[in-house]
Amino acid sequence: MQINAERFLTDLHHLRTFGASGIGKGVVRPAYSEPDVAARRWLAQRFEQAGLRVEVDAMGNFFGLAEGPSLLMGSHSDSQPEGGWLDGALGVIAALEVARASREAGGPAVSVVSFQDEEGRFGVTTGSAVWSGHLTLADADQLMDHAGIPLYTARLTMADLVTGSIDPSQFTAFVEMHIEQGPTLEATGNQIGVVTDIVGIRDMKITFEGQQNHAGTTPMHLRRDAFQAVSAFNAEINERFRNVVTPSTVWTIGHVSLHPNASSIVPGKAVFSIQWRDGDVTRLARMEEIIRTVAEEVAAEHGMALSYGPMLGLEPVAMDPRLRVALEQGAEKVASGNWCTLPSGALHDATNVSRMMPVAMLFVPSINGVSHAFEEDTDEADLVAGVQVLAHAVELIG
Ligand code: GLV
Ligand code: MN
Ligand code: MN
Repeated sequence: MQINAERFLTDLHHLRTFGASGIGKGVVRPAYSEPDVAARRWLAQRFEQAGLRVEVDAMGNFFGLAEGPSLLMGSHSDSQPEGGWLDGALGVIAALEVARASREAGGPAVSVVSFQDEEGRFGVTTGSAVWSGHLTLADADQLMDHAGIPLYTARLTMADLVTGSIDPSQFTAFVEMHIEQGPTLEATGNQIGVVTDIVGIRDMKITFEGQQNHAGTTPMHLRRDAFQAVSAFNAEINERFRNVVTPSTVWTIGHVSLHPNASSIVPGKAVFSIQWRDGDVTRLARMEEIIRTVAEEVAAEHGMALSYGPMLGLEPVAMDPRLRVALEQGAEKVASGNWCTLPSGALHDATNVSRMMPVAMLFVPSINGVSHAFEEDTDEADLVAGVQVLAHAVELIG
């Protein structure tokens, strides 16, 4: 089949006009936001023009379906609150291009998907988690974003687009292309990465509740300061993780909400996220024990009430060997001697989809290893090379 690089790049650039941040090529297109829904409406038109039948499930996962059994390809088109133009978008538009090229060449039937809320406004890869049965829709509906909006309310914004549930048994396998979002391919000078496995993740919110008080009159020894509790918690887990983690283990406190967040008030309440990732489930569990123990110790020491939000997570998964070989053969054809295999430290919809069918993933380099930031970018020659690898792989997978 013949990939049309210009058609692919034109669509990819058009997608970044939805929620364009005005800073570099960055986008602000969180799940269910107005630009996210507008982008999905445009994608639906492009799917139809490609001869695919558009179906949308209750979560807002958008499918462009080929007739009969087909290979599913795609990713997500929602973004982080400050996101790059390629994270997810690349996988959706690459899939669309391969679906079009394969159809034109009389090749294998390819369906396309853009999953909803991969970026976890409400959880962790929420749209594909519900589609795969990892999370029930009823449980997902209870999840709230950092502003306290429940998912149930947010998904009403696109209720008019929903057509019904999409049967996974019509798909033979799932292939997702993505930017690496890390430094490995660039550092090793490789144009293509074939993913071996995807790490596991745990994510939850912790709340410390102390006593809001006057910042001038409350003596230090009488304070129950929620920020001091968060600060002590952070220092202590970094120390206690030391003998448990490996160089590839990561953990992040990425969101902190301090109440009432004013210079002259001792903060009475802190709600914060803690997320940790590793390829070993035993280590993930050990880290959870440390987190809960330290939170209890800090709460007792600082006079805090302690509570936890729901514990979210995904297990590590290995990619399907047969699909991997097809991607490796495609990589060798397009970028001979210029590709490698590597694990993914980022989460992807492929993790959830692997519950239902064989999955594999392909990476292209991220300039300076930057992602989840407006600066995220990839050389266009690498983007096109990746789509060509997909095309070869699809011919081999059949
Ligand atoms: C997905 O974007 C992730 O957080 O890895
Ligand atoms: Mn992504
Ligand atoms: Mn992402």
